[in-house]
Amino acid sequence: MTVSIHQEQQHDRKAVWKLNRISFGSETEANLVNDLRTDGFVSVSHVAECDGRIVGHILFSRLQIMTAVETVEAVSLAPMCVHPDFQRQGIGSQLVNAGLEACRKQGHKVVVVLGHSDFYPRFGFSAELAKRLESPFGGGDVWMALELVPGSLDGIKGRVEYPPPFDAFK
Ligand SMILES: CC(C)(COP(=O)(O)OP(=O)(O)OC[C@H]1O[C@@H](n2cnc3c(N)ncnc32)[C@H](O)[C@@H]1OP(=O)(O)O)[C@@H](O)C(=O)NCCC(=O)NCCS
Repeated sequence: MTVSIHQEQQHDRKAVWKLNRISFGSETEANLVNDLRTDGFVSVSHVAECDGRIVGHILFSRLQIMTAVETVEAVSLAPMCVHPDFQRQGIGSQLVNAGLEACRKQGHKVVVVLGHSDFYPRFGFSAELAKRLESPFGGGDVWMALELVPGSLDGIKGRVEYPPPFDAFK
């Protein structure tokens, strides 16, 4: 099986919507992807392609951390998915690695994620690092942050403001 990871193209959009719906079992994440695109919040959107079929997708969108003294720019990893028939074969990991590299190249310094606590730490995400960041979706071990530039969250304590398309999850 040969899998290639590349930037989402306009003609991939329909397949990306369907893949999100199938993988999450609902249209909420699929519509979130469309809304983030339409509203211009997307930083990185990559797909995994296998034999001409889109089998994985990852998206990073811009958000802000509001501290008492400043606004810190960051990105959120959400959503990401791999087709149920293709899971546990390393495709999700390839998407995360490629996506983080693309974010790094764009100059992003901080990434936050709300997700599987046994998956994201292997890429450097840490719940400890996210403890001083207040998420509208709650905290705990599923709420994690990653510094693409070491030390970027030093002394940062504040509230994370997701863009409006995420209101569908509140
Ligand atoms: C999470 C997901 C993107 C991982 O993709 P993947 O291609 O299976 O990932 P990889 O093969 O690179 O890595 C496998 C790891 O993913 C995690 N994982 C895979 N399927 C999972 C599931 N159903 N539930 C929780 N974690 C899962 C596990 O940590 C697994 O590690 P392990 O095999 O050592 O136990 C994929 O399972 C998926 O699309 N799930 C449904 C949608 C979803 O939950 N998206 C993430 C929201 S935070």
